[in-house]
Amino acid sequence: MTLHGRDVISIRDLSRDEIETLVADARRMIPYAEGKKVTHPLEDKIVAMAFFEPSTRTRLSFESAVHRLGGHCITIADPGSSSVRKGESLNDTIRMLNAYADAIVLRHPNEGSARLAGRASDKPVINAGDGAGQHPTQTLLDLATMEEAFGTLSGLRVVLLGDLKYGRTVHSLAYALALFGSELVLSSPPTLRLPDEVRDQLEHMGVKLVEEDQLHRAIRDADVLYVTRIQRERFPDESEYQKVAGSYRIDNAVLVGAKPRLIVLHPLPRAGEIAPEVDSTPHAAYFRQAFLAVPVRMALLNAILGSPKRRKAE
Ligand code: NCD
Repeated sequence: MTLHGRDVISIRDLSRDEIETLVADARRMIPYAEGKKVTHPLEDKIVAMAFFEPSTRTRLSFESAVHRLGGHCITIADPGSSSVRKGESLNDTIRMLNAYADAIVLRHPNEGSARLAGRASDKPVINAGDGAGQHPTQTLLDLATMEEAFGTLSGLRVVLLGDLKYGRTVHSLAYALALFGSELVLSSPPTLRLPDEVRDQLEHMGVKLVEEDQLHRAIRDADVLYVTRIQRERFPDESEYQKVAGSYRIDNAVLVGAKPRLIVLHPLPRAGEIAPEVDSTPHAAYFRQAFLAVPVRMALLNAILGSPKRRKAE
């Protein structure tokens, strides 16, 4: 099946084959993402960025990807400056964007909003994060970073650390890793464990899940340490956040017992979970991960929107 014209709402909308193809296409896009080669398969396309939550990397890397592919962006970066402020419903906003653009990239605080937008629009909708739900394109770049580091996605031992309850990046990533036979080590404060429904689905998919709250034990045999920020903005009660704030931190001392080839990933922004001293170690892969956002999103946009005859980067 082709991705042309399709929505990407959940990582589970993509098969293992499709994910592997996108990761491989993303690798070929790197010189184009760096501006060393030029390709314009989106030159007649407009992509709407509808961001109803703060974003730096996701929005800018999507915009960069569109520009690198020769396309054009129209952007809502600050809902305060759009008619949402006047009480416009998401449904109506999406219907407008549907008329103005060839695809819509949506970030919204409500879980399920991207699915709703997909129904309201006959143009492809890409979920750039829906509340505590999913963040499928982040997962694609997380996987691209792992694939670049290990040459494979199969059979990795991955520690998911931090806010596994509200962290949409871990929800998407865990499902994807389940397709590749990963062993998942879950490490979180007790109140921020992976939601039962995600856990049940993963077990149903046959994933080996291990719970390990002791950081040094979790890290010992790991290939990937995926660190997340506590999603403060999702807590119904600030005092609950205060109870877990600062409860884990990766620094060089924590990494002493790690495999030499362990990579540390983080979707960013970080808010104290990784000490800056880690940045200069060979373990730090989070800035490379942030760069790979561009070629990965180029590969995805090209697959969804590129005209079939021009889709291949020449
Ligand atoms: C993440 C998000 O928005 O879910 N950031 C991102 O897209 N790179 C993670 C986070 O905000 O903690």
